[in-house]
Amino acid sequence: MPELGVNIDHVATLRQARGNQEPDPVWAAVQAELGGADCITIHLREDRRHIQDRDYRVLLETASVRINLEMACDEAITRMACETPPAQVTLVPERREELTTEGGLSVQGVESRLQPTIDALRNAGIAVSLFLDPSPRQIEAAITLDIDAIELHTGSYANASGTSQSDELVSLTRAAELIGSAGVAVHAGHGLNYVNVEPVAAIPKMHELNIGHSIISRAVFCGLTMAVRDMKKLISHSNLSDRDI
Ligand code: PXP
Repeated sequence: MPELGVNIDHVATLRQARGNQEPDPVWAAVQAELGGADCITIHLREDRRHIQDRDYRVLLETASVRINLEMACDEAITRMACETPPAQVTLVPERREELTTEGGLSVQGVESRLQPTIDALRNAGIAVSLFLDPSPRQIEAAITLDIDAIELHTGSYANASGTSQSDELVSLTRAAELIGSAGVAVHAGHGLNYVNVEPVAAIPKMHELNIGHSIISRAVFCGLTMAVRDMKKLISHSNLSDRDI
């Protein structure tokens, strides 16, 4: 069954709205762990709009599950990650004006510019994942790099409905097959929620799902531990058969 990375950026967004100390994403990580999170995911953005350097440092010291650090290919953040390594880094594109990560990385044609960052991170013992759209061209370019995982952007699937959502699921399944056959771990995330997660969790070789907005939204009403537990239940129900990870 795929592991669940709980993205707690929104907790930091709420704190930053007042510029004080609450709610603390470190508390959120504890609650998420109690609900069964396998991993805590945070995005340390260049503009530090939500997660702060302090959050990253304290989470590294206090979380008992893996930390997945989402970051752009930025020199200063790469240096910080190498000095105080998380278990995993997910490289994402970043634009200042975006509300959230809007598309996957563009790898094709810039492989040689990405490899030094990937090498530096892997030499520090960090597993490296690339956030990509389910595009065969991008995936074929990415698997020529020395990486551990590819996270498939599920935004188009999440935003679609009816037959177009089924078509998006087929694209994700084919992309997962391509990634898995190259010996690279398959991750997915973006826009997944309690209604649409099961078919994605059931994709063969799916190894990790990273989910933030829907879990934190539900947590407002029922608490984070229960919100994470509910998501874990859906993921496990969709994976009743043995899978190859
Ligand atoms: N994966 C990546 C790479 C992301 O950038 C995000 C958004 O921060 C997510 C997963 C989680 O997306 P959502 O908040 O829509 O669940």
